[in-house]
Amino acid sequence: MNGMTAFFIFPQPAKMPTCLEFFVTGGTMGFDTIIRNGTIVTATDTYAADIGITSGQIAAIAKDLPVENATKLLDAKDCIVIPGGIDVHTHLDMPFGGTTSADDFETGTRAAAYGGTTTLIDFAIQYKGQSLRHAFDTWMKKAEGKAVADYAFHCIITELGNSQLEEMGALVREGVSSFKLFMAYPGVFMLDDASIFRAMLQAAKHGGMICMHAENGGAIDVLVQRALAEGKTAPKYHALTRPTTAEGEATSRAIALAEIAGAPVYIVHLSCNDALEKVREARDRGLPAYAETCPQYLHLSLENMDVPGFEGAKYVFTPPLREKWNQEKLWQGLARDTLQVVSTDHCPFCFKEQKELGRDDFTKIPNGGPGVEHRLSLIYSGGVHGGKFSANRFVQLVSTAPAKLFGLYPRKGTIAIGSDADLVIFDPNAEQVISASTHHMRVDYSMFEGMRVKGVTKTVLSRGRVIIENGKFTGKAGSGEFLRRKTYTGKPS
Ligand code: URP
Ligand code: ZN
Ligand code: ZN
Repeated sequence: MNGMTAFFIFPQPAKMPTCLEFFVTGGTMGFDTIIRNGTIVTATDTYAADIGITSGQIAAIAKDLPVENATKLLDAKDCIVIPGGIDVHTHLDMPFGGTTSADDFETGTRAAAYGGTTTLIDFAIQYKGQSLRHAFDTWMKKAEGKAVADYAFHCIITELGNSQLEEMGALVREGVSSFKLFMAYPGVFMLDDASIFRAMLQAAKHGGMICMHAENGGAIDVLVQRALAEGKTAPKYHALTRPTTAEGEATSRAIALAEIAGAPVYIVHLSCNDALEKVREARDRGLPAYAETCPQYLHLSLENMDVPGFEGAKYVFTPPLREKWNQEKLWQGLARDTLQVVSTDHCPFCFKEQKELGRDDFTKIPNGGPGVEHRLSLIYSGGVHGGKFSANRFVQLVSTAPAKLFGLYPRKGTIAIGSDADLVIFDPNAEQVISASTHHMRVDYSMFEGMRVKGVTKTVLSRGRVIIENGKFTGKAGSGEFLRRKTYTGKPS
């Protein structure tokens, strides 16, 4: 290529003005990698263009980039190229229910990468009597040298004295700008309303986001004790003792407390229409209330638990699976922006050795399910091929909105000049049957065993490094970096 070449750059570049512009680059400009022949899909646009990557960032977006100066070429023919997925809800290497979640930061981020997710936001847990700093340090150590892609943390607060309240601001400044609070699991994680409210006031002051596990833990505990007294110990009673009304009530209370405190609130793992309606009402009133749902609530139902023997333990997580009619309401919620994000709540426990702990008592089954690997396929398949929403909305739900809500945008969550080259070459028409025999999560079962999905991740880049190439892992443990997130800006979508 000789002389000067004009490259047409599309809206919202990361470090440039937001209007349409022409950029001019020198004729000798080379790229580390060029992705060519693909169709770029962002949350707002769909167009055919090549992407040039230099030093881990997107350096050019144009028709027919000069391939002779590229060190590596990736062919995206018949594929879409999307920003790397961002899963804002995972529990890697997490002690819970007398055991520890089965994926650590190496196996968990690797499985995520196989499925097109290049950023995880995990949870650092502050246990009673500990500082928030201790939680953050502990989880940083768990991830260091292991993660194959980038990661960040929310901080779970289980006890909130004056010292922890003081620490919230410091953590926000260090990039841990969101806090998960529990209205469930009394005696373990649950906070009372006064503590929740204090945390919300503090979050509002420092630009933090409150992520809420919204279930009425007190009422659920009574139902659980009654079930056990009646000899109802099978896995399905986990679901039958956690009614949707208990989630709706807590969602409504969380939103009310946040409204008084003037804080944004993000409802995690929303599972049912009762809770969805509360979020919709709040958003109709213009409140900064947000919510995520997860693939298991969109694709599975209570019927999965009503099986002989102990098989239902595979689906013991919280909130539980719901009656099937809720699924359609959740898909609608995603299409209409009542729900902004799809995360996984990936919290894997092996069926044989870990779920087994609760064979005679459902309350002893470690709560959680594996899901980090197949989020993009499950949502593309059900959402885009299922006619619920566009491919742009899909990108918004799995990457752009998570980045915006949790202070990672525009470094992550879009395809723009200056953004990290976290990119996924995704074949929208390839099919795959999900199975524990082929998945990469370190767990001995799949919640979606035998399910055929249309839309498969082929190749994945994390900051320009190819970590999955044509379905094969090419990354390296320890190459993932901790991401210091910005504060909540109030303009998530
Ligand atoms: O059952 C679940 N969801 N386990 C992980 C912890 C939580 O509440 O998110
Ligand atoms: Zn939770
Ligand atoms: Zn969770």
